[in-house]
Amino acid sequence: MSLLICLPDSFHPQSLSNALKSLDPELHIEIGPENVKNPSAVEFAVDWKNPEGHLLNYPNLKAISSYGHGVDNLLSDTKLPHGIPIVRLKDETMANLMSEYLLAVVLLQRRQFLEYAKNPEFSEWGTSIYHPGNQIGILGLGYLGQASAKVFLNMGFNVAGWSRRMKQIDGISCFSNTEGLTKMLTQTDYLINLLPNTSATQDLLNYQTLSTLKRGAYVINVGRGQTLVDEDLIALLDNGHLSGACLDVFRTEPLPADHQFRNHNKILITPHNSSTTQAESAATQILENYRRAISGKKLLHLVDMKHGY
Ligand code: GLV
Repeated sequence: MSLLICLPDSFHPQSLSNALKSLDPELHIEIGPENVKNPSAVEFAVDWKNPEGHLLNYPNLKAISSYGHGVDNLLSDTKLPHGIPIVRLKDETMANLMSEYLLAVVLLQRRQFLEYAKNPEFSEWGTSIYHPGNQIGILGLGYLGQASAKVFLNMGFNVAGWSRRMKQIDGISCFSNTEGLTKMLTQTDYLINLLPNTSATQDLLNYQTLSTLKRGAYVINVGRGQTLVDEDLIALLDNGHLSGACLDVFRTEPLPADHQFRNHNKILITPHNSSTTQAESAATQILENYRRAISGKKLLHLVDMKHGY
């Protein structure tokens, strides 16, 4: 039996293989999807962005793991093997990285450091300049959303969050459904999108919803590009309703060189690296799920196929 790793080179499949081997030197690992030596030995596959249908090549596959918190890359494969459970990561190191990124962006904007960097004469000596808004609104209160919310709470921000199912979380004003979304947006100074890409979240951040945000609000998208309507964001930045945006995820990745987001003076772009998967910490839960899969035990972090995450 073997564990198959199918990741793009930029995700360093060998590092994951090394990390897994250091936890269990007996483990038999293959790196694919090309040149897999013994397809019928493969019982568990770790997958990210692969050719459609490649997982049909393994007749004894027992489970598939996404190599990230998201699973849209996997679920968009219309030729997935039928009935094979899919799991995803819920990783503390990634939650810390995400919280750090979000805090950095909010503070950069709140304290207007980029203005100082561009213009040393930005303010008079002795004055203090900061964005008065203190209200964070987080779309998506899953593992990453809750971890980030706690960091903002500890920093003294007011934190609200919106999720598909209503949640109760200490210190956070929780909202759900369409009415709840409007309520949260009208109070929000910094909007953070951490929603997965599903049929329910596509185009959710459009002209109508974004214009519900407080005037001068700042938008951060670290969820998926498909949730945000690009032209609507640009229109609201250009008419002054929104003060800026920081975008880490895009409808097309890498972001095309001629995309209107590049060179927009109110948009900060990062290359989908707000929280990248770290082989060492991911390996622990991948190995745990591999062991569970081969012994027929209940898997951790199972994907709810009905809701798509
Ligand atoms: C990154 O986008 C992830 O899904 O973990």
